[in-house]
Amino acid sequence: MTKKISGFSKLSKKEKIHWLTETYFSGKEAASQLLKTYWNSDEKLQQLHDEFIENTITNYYLPLGVAPNFLINDTYYTIPMAIEESSVVAAASKAAKFWEARGGFKTTVLGTTKIGQVHFMYTGDVGVLEAFFNEIKPTLLEDAKPITANMEKRGGGIKSITLIDKTATLANYYQLHCTFETLDAMGANFINSCLEQFAQTFKNGFDADIRFRESELSIIMSILSNYVPDCIVRAEVSCPVTDLTEKGIDGEEFAAKFAQAIAIAEVEPYRAVTHNKGIMNGIDAVILATGNDFRAIEAGIHAYASKDGIYKSLTHVSVIDGVFRFWMDIPLAVGTVGGLTKLHPLVKWCFELLQHPNAKQLMQIIAVAGLAQNFAAVKSLTTTGIQQGHMKMHLMNILNQFEASISEKEQAVTYFKTNPVSHSAVVSYIEKIRS
Ligand code: MEV
Repeated sequence: MTKKISGFSKLSKKEKIHWLTETYFSGKEAASQLLKTYWNSDEKLQQLHDEFIENTITNYYLPLGVAPNFLINDTYYTIPMAIEESSVVAAASKAAKFWEARGGFKTTVLGTTKIGQVHFMYTGDVGVLEAFFNEIKPTLLEDAKPITANMEKRGGGIKSITLIDKTATLANYYQLHCTFETLDAMGANFINSCLEQFAQTFKNGFDADIRFRESELSIIMSILSNYVPDCIVRAEVSCPVTDLTEKGIDGEEFAAKFAQAIAIAEVEPYRAVTHNKGIMNGIDAVILATGNDFRAIEAGIHAYASKDGIYKSLTHVSVIDGVFRFWMDIPLAVGTVGGLTKLHPLVKWCFELLQHPNAKQLMQIIAVAGLAQNFAAVKSLTTTGIQQGHMKMHLMNILNQFEASISEKEQAVTYFKTNPVSHSAVVSYIEKIRS
């Protein structure tokens, strides 16, 4: 049977599933039944999910967990986290508890500027282009008024438009580099609409201008940038080094080793990538739970981690005069209005759990989740090692792989409280109790 199809998107959901299972699966009935098992019995709710994207065939579950006791600027939060990795929520909760006893997390929003660009090619005199740009700039703003009026009423809008000559990097390449304040919206639609209007006004003005009779201008594209180095939030914790002493770990020794671990991630990209991945465990989980765009956040944060020309740790540490300070500045363009925020019932639920934060507050909560996650990971790595805690959390996954019964799970959990967890140890244990 051919694996090619035309008009797939026009088929009904049932027809799509039928084609897929007939074409690709040996156990056709089971394959189609599995997809249906994940449909929601509430038809309206299912339809809502079906309409988020094209060609929906079923829902894809991720666990939604919560990490309580996050003390941020003297307010308690329970943070929602949508993530599949077994140890992440437990690590966040542990770090929250650890820092709650030491004054909690402090956060500051350092900037909220977003960026978008009109990329174009121009062959002609740069001086004439600059003069034209300065003349047409008020019209660019004026023509965008229907798009910006509402945002301006609320205190946001276009902050600047600058002509940039990029011809030193690419022949004939120029851009309109634009900055925006989008308040509680992530701003992609607002920014892209403004940019497309700028491009049109700019091109129309160019075509009508007699000075450009001998030159050409081609608009290549108009799009926001997910690199937002001026939309930054700082999250930090600090305490006397002596307060780090805990469960047989000496505070001073711990602080020194922890600082070395961060120093390594500041100079060694192989380590920095994994180090920052641990931060993203916390960040992505909250980004997903709050219906934000994790791809945009990932791309922007990793670009920021490379801003000095080498990929580096996003977190930093200092130990000065007996005080341990651990902090992170990260770019986060998030929204608390628009997108999925008012559409997805669980996202709405998560916003209520967070007590309806605005975008600045959400930036702070997310940054804390990232910092906490990194603290927990580096603390484990530099003390007990990561596998002890990780494998304990992974135990349930291994047991589920072997379809362990409730009683088998209970026995295994008790046994592995005092025995090291590894895949083979769990397999042998299950075989033993089953025989
Ligand atoms: C695992 O998901 C994340 C860690 O590898 C992060 C780190 O190494 O810092 C534990």
